[in-house]
Amino acid sequence: MCDAIISPPSILIPTNLQISNLSFKPSIRTRYQNVHASANQNHPNRWSLQGMTALVTGGTRGIGRAIVEELAGHGAIIHTCARNESELNSCLKGWLDEGLKITGSVCDVSSPLDRKKLMNDVSCVFDGKLYILVNNVGTNIRKPMVDLTAEEFSTLMSTNFESVFHICQLAHPLLKASTTGSIVFTSSVSAFVSLKSMTLQGATKGAINQLTKNLACEWAKDNIRSNAVAPWYIKTSMVEQVLSNKEYVEEVLHCTPLGRLGDPNEVSSLVAFLCMPASSYITGQIICVDGGMSVSGFYPRHG
Ligand SMILES: NC(=O)c1ccc[n+]([C@@H]2O[C@H](COP(=O)([O-])OP(=O)(O)OC[C@H]3O[C@@H](n4cnc5c(N)ncnc54)[C@H](OP(=O)(O)O)[C@@H]3O)[C@@H](O)[C@H]2O)c1
Repeated sequence: MCDAIISPPSILIPTNLQISNLSFKPSIRTRYQNVHASANQNHPNRWSLQGMTALVTGGTRGIGRAIVEELAGHGAIIHTCARNESELNSCLKGWLDEGLKITGSVCDVSSPLDRKKLMNDVSCVFDGKLYILVNNVGTNIRKPMVDLTAEEFSTLMSTNFESVFHICQLAHPLLKASTTGSIVFTSSVSAFVSLKSMTLQGATKGAINQLTKNLACEWAKDNIRSNAVAPWYIKTSMVEQVLSNKEYVEEVLHCTPLGRLGDPNEVSSLVAFLCMPASSYITGQIICVDGGMSVSGFYPRHG
C-alpha cells in the first residue's frame, strides 16, 4: 500500500524527426527511431524537468538536499530517503511549506531489505515510472589501508557501492517504463587522483565510475542514460570535521586552482543539467566538479 500517491503529469515527447526516407533494416530503424524519439533538438522543454519523477537518495543534507531542491525547482516530483526520521520529516515539512512536491522514506541504503522497501515506495508513489535516479548517498572512513578493519571495509562497500548497484537493478523496470530515464551517480575526485587515507573510499568511487560507463552501454537500448558527477571538497556536514582544521584547509586550497571550496548547489546544477532533455546525447560521462583540482598536475601552490 502507498500512503500518498502523487500522479505526475505525462511528459510529451514529440517524435518530430523525419527519418522515413532512410532505408535501414527494420531492427536498426526501430532502434534509431527509439533513440531519437527523446533525443531531438526541438524538445519543447529542453531546459526543464517539468513533471518528471525522481528518486534522490540522501536528500536531507549537503549535496543530496541541494539536488532535491534543484530538481524540484526545475519542476521534477521528488522522492528522497535518509536514515534519520525526524530530520527527514522536518525537511519534508519545510519543502511542503515552499510548495515543492517531495515525499520521503526512512531508509538505510546499506540494507538490502530497506532498499527493496524504498523502491516499493517509489513505484507506488510514482505509479511505476521513474525518469530520474540520483544515487547520491556515500560515506567515508579516513584511515591508512592497513588500519581498515573488515567491518569498516564492509560498511564502505555496502554504503557506497553495493547500495547503488542494487538500487539500479531495482530501479531498472521503472526507468525503462518512463521511456527516457536518466541515472546520475555521485562519485568523487578520489576516483581520479590519490587522496591520503582514502584508498578504499576511492576504490568504491572508482567502481561507481565503471558502473556509470557500463550502464550507459547496457541500458542505452532502454533509452536510459547514465552519468556521474565527481566533487572535490564541497561544504557539507560530511566534511565539516576535517575542514575545521585550518592548516588542512590551506593545503586543500593550495591544490585547487580556483582557490576555494565548493558549494552543494555547484554540484546540483550539473546534476539537473544531466537529467534534462538538453543533455540527451550525453551518457557514460563522469564530470568533475572540483575547481580544477583533478587537472592541476604540477601546480602545487594555488592562491
Ligand atoms: N562533501 C564533499 O566534499 C564530497 C566530496 C566528494 C564526494 N562527495 C559525495 O557526495 C555524496 C553526498 O555527500 P555529502 O557531503 O552531501 O554528505 P552529507 O552532508 O553527510 O549528507 C549525506 C546525506 O545522505 C544521507 N545518508 C547518509 N548515509 C545514508 C544511508 N546509509 N542511507 C540513507 N541515507 C544516508 C544523510 O542522511 P542520514 O544521515 O539521516 O541518513 C544525508 O541526507 C556522497 O556520495 C559523498 O561521497 C562529497
